[in-house]
Amino acid sequence: MKRLNSVPEFKTWQDTLVKARNPNSKVIVLCGGTGCNATGSRLVATTIAEQLKSTGLANTVSLRVTGCHGFCEKGPLVVIQPEGILYTSVKPEDITEILNETVKNKKVIERLLYVDPTTGNKVTYEHDVPFYSKQTRIIFGENTKIDPTKIEDYISIGGYSALAKSLSTMKPDAIIDMIKKSGLRGRGGGGFPAGVKWESCRKAQGDLKYVICNADEGDPGAYANRSLLEGNPHSVIEGMIIAAYAIGSNVGYIYIRDEYPLAVELFANALKQAEESGLLGKNILGSGFNFVMNINRGGGAFVCGESSALMASLEGKIGEPRAKYIHMVEHGLYNRPSCLNNVETWANVPLIINKGVDWFTKIGTGDVTANPWGGSKGTKIFSLVGKVNNTGLVEVPMGISLREIVFGIGGGIRGNKKFKAVQTGGPSGGCIPDKMLDLPVDYDRLTAAGSMMGSGGMIVMDENSCMVDVAQYFLNFLSEESCGKCVPCREGITRMHEILKDICDGRGKDGDIELLEELAATVKDSSLCQLGATSPNPVLTTLKYFRDEYEAHIKDKKCPSGVCKELIHYTIDEKACKACGACIKPCPAEAITGAKKVPHKIDQFKCIKCGVCMDTCKFDSISIIPGRHPSVEKELVNA
Ligand code: FES
Repeated sequence: MKRLNSVPEFKTWQDTLVKARNPNSKVIVLCGGTGCNATGSRLVATTIAEQLKSTGLANTVSLRVTGCHGFCEKGPLVVIQPEGILYTSVKPEDITEILNETVKNKKVIERLLYVDPTTGNKVTYEHDVPFYSKQTRIIFGENTKIDPTKIEDYISIGGYSALAKSLSTMKPDAIIDMIKKSGLRGRGGGGFPAGVKWESCRKAQGDLKYVICNADEGDPGAYANRSLLEGNPHSVIEGMIIAAYAIGSNVGYIYIRDEYPLAVELFANALKQAEESGLLGKNILGSGFNFVMNINRGGGAFVCGESSALMASLEGKIGEPRAKYIHMVEHGLYNRPSCLNNVETWANVPLIINKGVDWFTKIGTGDVTANPWGGSKGTKIFSLVGKVNNTGLVEVPMGISLREIVFGIGGGIRGNKKFKAVQTGGPSGGCIPDKMLDLPVDYDRLTAAGSMMGSGGMIVMDENSCMVDVAQYFLNFLSEESCGKCVPCREGITRMHEILKDICDGRGKDGDIELLEELAATVKDSSLCQLGATSPNPVLTTLKYFRDEYEAHIKDKKCPSGVCKELIHYTIDEKACKACGACIKPCPAEAITGAKKVPHKIDQFKCIKCGVCMDTCKFDSISIIPGRHPSVEKELVNA
């Protein structure tokens, strides 16, 4: 790869690459992200490459394997350009037809089109699919345009222009001022204004400063950072180099989860290419500015996503947080000034430098002209998962309503069930109820609702979700992930989890709710780091919005949603039962009795409430009743 020694050399190369990129050329765009790989994308890629070669189409049609397109549930995804025809769930055996029909003859293959679950209509073009058309994909949309293994692809869509502009025309203070005015806030969840952090780090005393990327995405179900690193690694590298120049740093680190092997591989490849091109390393683009970057593979502890724990881990120590009165921007990694942001934050930086503050501040909420804390600007990528029709990664402008995300983009609730709540912000986020579906999603409103932005997890729950069980699940996760350094977090979360488990298992008693509230307040106020301080959120929000469910569990010994096994029972409706015997055989507890023409019965003392009988019955004669069966209740009372 040719090394670039100046900004004019870079611009000449970029012009050549832009001219070579013909918007009308035939390209088969295949998603090669982790989600699509899991459903067979690699084999699809090999098949396309082989058939393009064997049919002679390789001279006129190219294959671009990209990072995640966002709609992972429907993968592997194929988009035929320039038309933009989208095919979902593509298999290797579909390729011959795609090449013969669509690529050669421009005919659409109906059976491979996306079917809108709300209308039942087939959608031909990617930009018409509601999942995409209702998003604002300023960061994530680039994934489909580039092969992440080719730096040329990134440069041909404007990549590294912001770096060239910064080094050749902007002073460090001007860059910091721009980021401050943009109102860009940390996408890792804390929402601290990036420009304010950069400014403090620039002003901090010390010859050696560090720029760090937090790519330790540990929230269950969240994978936006992973997909950004896999799909567009150069955007993150470019953002970090610009920050390094602005704050006066020459050394950077990216701390990536070890469970992200593809992200590590593609990021390492991107670093190598940037170095060989003279965009990273010594004397970048002949400017005299030096910046080297290193990859560190995280060991998989959730707490290492916390900035001070991450830095301790980077130093080779146990990943434990420290008290926040010591500021990382002054005493961070190796006790030196350090500027840490997450993957998505860094990817925003080149866009702001290229397109300007006015463009960025038009997206989002609030007014940041006088105060970088005054609003939430730009977009946010969420991992939309759970009981929603369209799951995947969605990028939306800050301020969009939860309703628009869940119903507009997500296509509503699976199986036409009722929406119950959405948990935002990962395991230590909060559950927001249906009456707040019109809440605009931004940092401050989510916090006011008792939840938080977090790193962008969004879990949708339907009417069959038990909110006490949900709180128990997340507190269990957090108690296992607490590093144990401080007592309130270590003991407080464990105790809260025990109480929640007792309630779900039918051992709840008067006073439990009050005790939970007291513990939550203590843990929130006195934990050392944000993992502890935010951990009561699932408890507090479910208590605030679904208190009646707690009371039903404790006082009535009923789980209204039919989830907690100790507080429900299964029954067979004798009139509906056709006495077919289908449910008898699969019952692992041999709890069902009956014979031909004799309606079946469940022995409540043997039943383990696995639900296999209900799944087997074709006549809907088996149902879940909240509360214990009277015979079981009687036995418990007499015990
Ligand atoms: S991995 Fe293919 S769409 Fe996400």
